[in-house]
Amino acid sequence: MFKLNENYLKLPGSYLFSTIGKKVNAYSAAHPDKKIIRLGIGDVTQPLAPAIIEALHSAVDEMGHAETFHGYAPDLGYEFLRDAIAENDYRARGCDISPDEIFVSDGAKCDSSNIQEIFGLDNRIAVCDPVYPVYVDSNVMAGRTGTYDKNTETWSDVIYMPCTAANGFAPELPKETPDLIYLCFPNNPTGATVTKAQLQEWVDYANRVGAVIIYDAAYEAYISDADVPHSIYECQGAQTCAIELRSFSKNAGFTGVRLGFTVIPKELKCGDVMLHSLWARRHGTKYNGAPYIVQRAGEAVYSEAGKEQLKQQVAYYMKNASYIYNGLKEAGFTVSGGVNAPYIWLKTPGNMTSWEFFDTLLENVNVVGTPGSGFGPSGEGYFRLTAFGSYENTVEAVDRIKTLKL
Ligand SMILES: Cc1ncc(COP(=O)(O)O)c(C=O)c1O
Repeated sequence: MFKLNENYLKLPGSYLFSTIGKKVNAYSAAHPDKKIIRLGIGDVTQPLAPAIIEALHSAVDEMGHAETFHGYAPDLGYEFLRDAIAENDYRARGCDISPDEIFVSDGAKCDSSNIQEIFGLDNRIAVCDPVYPVYVDSNVMAGRTGTYDKNTETWSDVIYMPCTAANGFAPELPKETPDLIYLCFPNNPTGATVTKAQLQEWVDYANRVGAVIIYDAAYEAYISDADVPHSIYECQGAQTCAIELRSFSKNAGFTGVRLGFTVIPKELKCGDVMLHSLWARRHGTKYNGAPYIVQRAGEAVYSEAGKEQLKQQVAYYMKNASYIYNGLKEAGFTVSGGVNAPYIWLKTPGNMTSWEFFDTLLENVNVVGTPGSGFGPSGEGYFRLTAFGSYENTVEAVDRIKTLKL
């Protein structure tokens, strides 16, 4: 008789965004006349930039001719893309990352959950609280998190690093020593960032205690402050302790196209074993590569035209971010994030819980956001709004929220 992976049965409730989706669908079925504005899920809304569309078309045409047809992609991804990434995302920022340390994939969600496979089950993970839920859930599925406590909504074997108003939503070094540390800056959900000096402390700490940092930089394109690092490899010594995850979803609108990459420096070792070799083995065995067409589209992200067009796209979303941030601040809300990140993190008014505020917004002004408590216990009493809507909808949503009598 077959047996289940019982770790899956330990997962509490449904995925946050399914719960939100169900609530919104029920509301809209009961009130079909209401125009609901969705500033909840972090999905982009602007169309792909012309340089990317052009690259997609031309790659599609190549696939239609025997001479230019492409089958399986090379294990690590096409060289043209890895070269462009190494040059633009790393060497241009003074980071010594070579193309063969870059593994092209179909996105950071898969990579952030798959990467734990190359580590032993007895590694202790440390996560920010609140956190992008994938890091924890994928470790639950693997059986690395111990038992779940319904009351505290925490796992016995996970080290939680609270990110609160008191610490500027930046985690402090944990008291217990972890083996794997998940960090994400600019942060989802809080929109917080850390300076290069702050990140350097984490790198020094990880090297000192022999931990690996899994650094999710999916939102680096939104950074405008000069002292906020785009990559962990801007810090000295990161090559021996950090894996970096990147995505084309938020900088180039690839949420439906799918492309990302993971960087594992060859200097990152456990004894004599390079983590690079293990991930290469895993990639070769379990993954057949992002499509040629999509990798060509990714290359166009780094073309002169692509860079210029995407700068404008990011600026479009950041204009939304500042409208939300300033509008809600004027209305008396306590807000953070939204400066180097497309997320605005606001304190729910009065003593409302995150879900009470979610219901209030949905029912009174027909605006959907994300309850902070869905990202972890320290998110209770907070709420996330995204800047990824259209400008018109963003303005209307903020103006509606301002009419709330709270
Ligand atoms: C922190 C973080 N990492 C990764 C992802 C997923 O990226 P991708 O679309 O490349 O899978 C998201 C998506 O919302 C995210 O917020």
